[in-house]
This record gives sequence, C-alpha cells and structure tokens, in this order.
Amino acid sequence: MAADDFVRIVEVGPRDGLQNEKTLVPTPAKIELIDRLTATGLSSIEATSFVSPRWVPQLADAAEVFAGIHRKPGVHYPVLVPNEQGYDRARAVGAAEVAVFTAASEAFNKKNINATIDESIERFRPVVERANADGVKVRGYVSTVLGCPYQGEVPVADVVRVAQRMHALGCYEISLGDTIGVGTPAKARAMLRAVASEVPMAALAVHFHDTYGQALPNLLACLEEGVRVADASVSGTGGCPYAKGASGNVATEDVVYMLHGMGLRTGVDLDKLVDTGRWLAALLGRATGSKVTQASAAA
Ligand code: HMG
Ligand code: MG
Repeated sequence: MAADDFVRIVEVGPRDGLQNEKTLVPTPAKIELIDRLTATGLSSIEATSFVSPRWVPQLADAAEVFAGIHRKPGVHYPVLVPNEQGYDRARAVGAAEVAVFTAASEAFNKKNINATIDESIERFRPVVERANADGVKVRGYVSTVLGCPYQGEVPVADVVRVAQRMHALGCYEISLGDTIGVGTPAKARAMLRAVASEVPMAALAVHFHDTYGQALPNLLACLEEGVRVADASVSGTGGCPYAKGASGNVATEDVVYMLHGMGLRTGVDLDKLVDTGRWLAALLGRATGSKVTQASAAA
C-alpha cells in the first residue's frame, strides 16, 4: 500500500447517476442532491453535463442546476462537456472545472458521441486550450478501458495511448472508466500499471461500474497499485445510455466504508452519505444499490 493514506473520491452521482434515469428528475431535487452531497464532506462532485439535450434529455437543465447549487469554497464541481458549445454553456454559469471524454474503443465512441477517437480529441482540443487559458481545470475520461459493449476486448495499448494523449493535451487528471463493469482485479491492475508507465499515477483516477459485482475488488487492486482517486456514485446509481449493458457505478457509501475500514481517510461523513443515498433511492422509487446503506437500514 502506498504511504499516502488520503483517497479523494469524485462523486459522479448527479451526472453519471442521473443521466441514465428514464424518468425526469425535477431540477430542485437535483440541486438538493448536490447540496446534500456537499454537506457530507466530499471534495469533488460532478454536478451535471452540458452535452446535447437531444442525446441526454435528463440533463437538459444543466444550467439551472449548476446555477442553483450552493458551491462550498474548496469543493470542486466539475461538469461534463463534449465540445466547445458545451464549454460555452458551462462557462456561462460559472463552471470552474470541466471534464472531457472519449474512449479507448472506436466502436463505443461512435455510439456515444458520434465521433472517432481522433475526431473526439480534435473536438475537445480547443476546449482544453481555452480552459487552460481561462484557468479552468480539465479532467479527462477514457471509457471502455476493460472492455467494450460493441467491440469486446480493448487492447491495453489503446487505453495507454488515449490516456497519454489526453494528459499531454492538458488534462490534469485522467479517469479510467470500466464503462460496462466487465473487468476483474488482475486485469484492472495490469491496465492501471500500463497507463502509469506513461502518465504519473498522481494524475490517474479509476471509475468502476459494478455490472458484474467487481467494482470494489477492482478498486482495491488499483489502490494497492497506488491510485488515490476513485470515482463513485451515491446509492450506486449510474450508467451510460449509450453503453448497452452498463449498470450503476460502485456506490460511494460502499467505497467510503471499505476505505475507512482499511484506515484510509476520505474526509466524508459516512452517516450523512448513507442518509443522502437513502433519500435518493426514495426519490427515484427504487432500492438502494449500496450494500452499506442496506445493512445500516437492517441494523
Ligand atoms: P452530433 O449530433 O454528432 O453533433 O452529437 P452535432 O455537432 O451535429 O450537433 C447536433 C445538435 O446538437 C445541434 O443542434 C447542436 O447545436 C446540438 P441542432 O442544430 O440539430 O438543433 N449540440 C449541443 N447542444 C447543447 N450542448 C452541446 C451541444 N453539442 C451539440 N454541448 C455530441 C455530438 C457529442 C454533441 C452528442 O453525441 C452528445 O452530446 N453525446 C453525449 C452522450 C453522453 O452524454 N453520454 C454519456 C456521458 S459519457 C459516460 O457516461 C462515460 C463516463 O461515465 C466514463 C465511463 O463510465 O466510462 C464519463
Ligand atoms: Mg460512467
């Protein structure tokens, strides 16, 4: 285990979690979700997404949501942007951190953003350049790092190449996404190790969906490898509408429980997080995806 005992959690529930919801969640509820998450002590909360509202109608109210939240000093509220149009919309409401995204698989990119890997990078190159000039931080996502719903296997060399390009372009952090949750620990560790040979470990994050129940073991393997940033989604919500078979992200409650149990620090109040997860599950009208929240209801 690396000496550094603080793990930064990037909460993606308000974006990755809600983007996959069929029923429109009212804007005030989205704002309340983010404000509740802020109160748990999380230091990074991905608030929404400025993609095309035709592609993701659930997040068409991104501007209203972002303008409505109570931003706590010191907390980061990144928003997803696919292109300059998204960047303009995000900046108009004062976003200070954005996230651009592509994939290690051509087939997935075609479905998700209607572009090849190269085209997607050309599309967000001006976003990164403008953001760097504006003092806006840019996070980068690489999807399908452990498998693709359309292409199947994804060579590790492709993940390394795309991550390296995004880092070289000016993304301060690259989040490696197992979009459809098919990875297993040894594979996750090998992938991370390969990427870390080209991009510093301190600039890497992991993003595990839990489709096959492998997200926590995958995260553990990557922590042992030295990663210290983990994406997670409260109540285990999440999934990409353009990734067939994708289910929720690893639940933030379960990640925090595991990390604290290992003696690692997160700055997050688990009780408040569990309350928020329970509130969200009730709002969405379904059982929580967090084992910890289930267990604490039974206790
Ligand atoms: P396109 O249709 O190829 O693009 O979409 P276009 O440039 O031809 O634009 C079409 C229309 O959308 C135009 O409007 C544009 O103005 C508008 P029209 O002239 O027809 O009325 N438009 C926009 N409107 C608002 N904001 C914008 C914007 N851009 C264009 N930013 C595009 C290309 C990239 C826009 C589209 O494919 C898109 O929005 N895709 C997003 C899909 C998405 O959000 N997927 C989920 C997020 S990724 C994910 O979940 C994975 C992750 O969690 C990591 C992991 O798990 O692996 C991050
Ligand atoms: Mg995701």
